[in-house]
Amino acid sequence: MEGIANIFIPILIIVLMFVMDWRLGLLSLVPLVLGMAAMGMMMKSGFEKMNDYYESAAKMNNTIIEYVNGMEVVKVFNKDGDSYRRFGDVVRDYRDFTIAWYKVCWPWMAAYASILPCLALLMLPVGSYMGLSGALALDKLILVLCMSFAVGPSFLKALNFAGKFPQLDYKISEFEKLMDHPPLKEGQNRFTGEGFDVSFEDVRFGYEDEEVLHGVSLTMKQGTTTALVGESGSGKSTLAKLLIHYYDIDGGAIKIGGQDIPGRMC
Ligand SMILES: Nc1ncnc2c1ncn2[C@@H]1O[C@H](COP(=O)(O)OP(=O)(O)OP(=O)(O)O)[C@@H](O)[C@H]1O
Ligand SMILES: [Mg+2]
Repeated sequence: MEGIANIFIPILIIVLMFVMDWRLGLLSLVPLVLGMAAMGMMMKSGFEKMNDYYESAAKMNNTIIEYVNGMEVVKVFNKDGDSYRRFGDVVRDYRDFTIAWYKVCWPWMAAYASILPCLALLMLPVGSYMGLSGALALDKLILVLCMSFAVGPSFLKALNFAGKFPQLDYKISEFEKLMDHPPLKEGQNRFTGEGFDVSFEDVRFGYEDEEVLHGVSLTMKQGTTTALVGESGSGKSTLAKLLIHYYDIDGGAIKIGGQDIPGRMC
């Protein structure tokens, strides 16, 4: 609604200006054309970097979430320094990227934001000259000048609104990627296992292309506590996540009481 109103009001006013006096109507188009040209330059220089900009923002957000979620572990292992450095690096990257991006866009953005609202810039001197020389009636000039002030702000709002489309494109495509992700397989079988021993049998799993668990087999007896010990990144948390079926496994089987949990094997 906002986009439509802000596009139609300026169009209507410009048409009225042409009806009142075609020369003033024509004059009112000059700042619009110049402003649009500046906007075109801004889009040309900045839009190809738009996706990189959003990716950099997403990376920063992910790192912040990871940092906050992992705070406990970070504190336990006294890794504040490392973790904070990573957090700092990614924020600094985002800052540098944003500043570089704005440096390219801002001159054009400032140009169009200054030129577009100034419809009276040419109309005032030229219209006054026409009025004084008798080529234009004073009442018409005043009316057209008053109308001209309503064009710029609406037009700017409409353009700002149009600037949201690339953002929407990016967000929709990210959302579609998420929606296209195959759902986790769910088993229909009721639990018929015997006891609650947990066993991993030759489990293979990778997050993307890289395999993280290369055929892990172990049994955890019901009612006992099992400690997983290994280097950071060796796959301990991954193993726990697979047990609660956070992801589908790529090979092998995970069983509770001898029954496969839903996953690749079902
Ligand atoms: N969501 C994820 N996407 C892609 N790779 C991941 C993801 N989670 C973990 N990994 C990778 O999988 C490997 C195993 O990670 P995991 O978190 O299971 O290790 P870990 O043994 O729990 O480490 P830590 O002791 O630091 O907690 C690591 O190389 C890690 O970078
Ligand atoms: Mg872990």
